[in-house]
Amino acid sequence: MRKLAILGSTGSIGTSALEVAAAFPDRLEVTALAAGRNRELLREQCRRFRPALVSVGQEADARWLAGELGPEIEVQWGLEGLEACALRSGADTVLASIVGAAGLSSTEAALRAGRRVCVANKESLVVGGGLLRKALAVGGGELLPVDSEHAALHQLLAGRDPASVRELRLTASGGPFREWPLDRIRAATVEEALNHPTWKMGPKITVDSATLMNKGLEVIEASVLFGLGPEQVGVTVHPQSQVHAMVDFRDGSYQLQVCANDMKLPIQYALLFPDCLPGPVPPYDWEQARAWSFEPPDLARFPCLALAFEALRLGGTAPALLNAANEEAVAAFLSRAIGFWDIQALNAEVLARIPPEQAGELAQVLDADRRARACAQDWIRRRAGN
Ligand SMILES: NC(=O)c1ccc[n+]([C@@H]2O[C@H](COP(=O)([O-])OP(=O)(O)OC[C@H]3O[C@@H](n4cnc5c(N)ncnc54)[C@H](OP(=O)(O)O)[C@@H]3O)[C@@H](O)[C@H]2O)c1
Repeated sequence: MRKLAILGSTGSIGTSALEVAAAFPDRLEVTALAAGRNRELLREQCRRFRPALVSVGQEADARWLAGELGPEIEVQWGLEGLEACALRSGADTVLASIVGAAGLSSTEAALRAGRRVCVANKESLVVGGGLLRKALAVGGGELLPVDSEHAALHQLLAGRDPASVRELRLTASGGPFREWPLDRIRAATVEEALNHPTWKMGPKITVDSATLMNKGLEVIEASVLFGLGPEQVGVTVHPQSQVHAMVDFRDGSYQLQVCANDMKLPIQYALLFPDCLPGPVPPYDWEQARAWSFEPPDLARFPCLALAFEALRLGGTAPALLNAANEEAVAAFLSRAIGFWDIQALNAEVLARIPPEQAGELAQVLDADRRARACAQDWIRRRAGN
């Protein structure tokens, strides 16, 4: 029986993970749940799964939740609450499914403590990839990817000599604006950006999918997870989102991983690894393969993807700078303070303005994150003043 802590249980990944846990009651026991602001949903999840420990973002919500749940469930809050869920709830498996760099410290703490950490929170790998790898080495636990492309690569690379790999290739749906001309993309609205054609996800990653920044973050994530440079990670647009990744081996052969576009599959893969059991997702319908198509990404219409490659090439704190700028830009876009095309402009500006430094220590990464956010906020204020 695996004892599971879900950090970000009220989100798209977190709720799918609870469906997986419910499908395997003799394999997965939920011992801790952590969320941000959605206290009502968290209360319902606690009543159903009875974790020992639960955490919310704010102290006032923690007090409300404690009153609703009674003394059997310990309630904590904030960063300490998150870390307590990962470290003090008896969990041996932690699902890191918070959105944004806010997930970095709890992911690092869980790895340092030797847990199996299943990482959906790609921003933590982008911002602190080196730190997380160090924590993994110190703790001696496991780091398993949950992002569908990286879970696919994990499957494709199992048992293979890393030297036999020429290139990893991630597929991208292309997002809602794949076929739009540049003029129309420039003026895209929040509603249009949130209307993703193949995946139902949280708002931040959905906007990232519309700019292709999501794929850029995933390129950096793949580089961290599989130890390859930017020239060894490629991107192919595949609108049907059924081939998730490909590996180009040195002998000229390619291998592809295929499954339905349902996040419960990679979540189940990571939580139960190495066991492969029938789960809540029905088998793939091969009739759908008739419609498969592939095309190269257009970097002129989706410059965020090129910026991510640039940050990966620059190294050090450059990915952390780009990620922080992008988090601020997406939040500003979602609150309608800036336009869709401003996201890439802001990201480019921050990356050009702040020189990257070494990223060996948490303090250096957090400093880069803070500086990039300040620079981005300044840009947003100036933009709003225009
Ligand atoms: N959704 C997908 O299909 C998908 C696929 C691959 C990878 N991912 C990655 O998985 C992560 C989660 O994505 P998502 O789509 O599930 O996002 P989401 O639906 O927006 O959920 C985010 C979760 O994080 C919680 N949260 C946010 N800030 C927090 C904080 N400071 N402290 C504690 N909890 C906090 C939220 O709590 P409240 O809602 O209660 O505030 C919520 O539970 C992202 O990094 C994303 O890139 C997602």
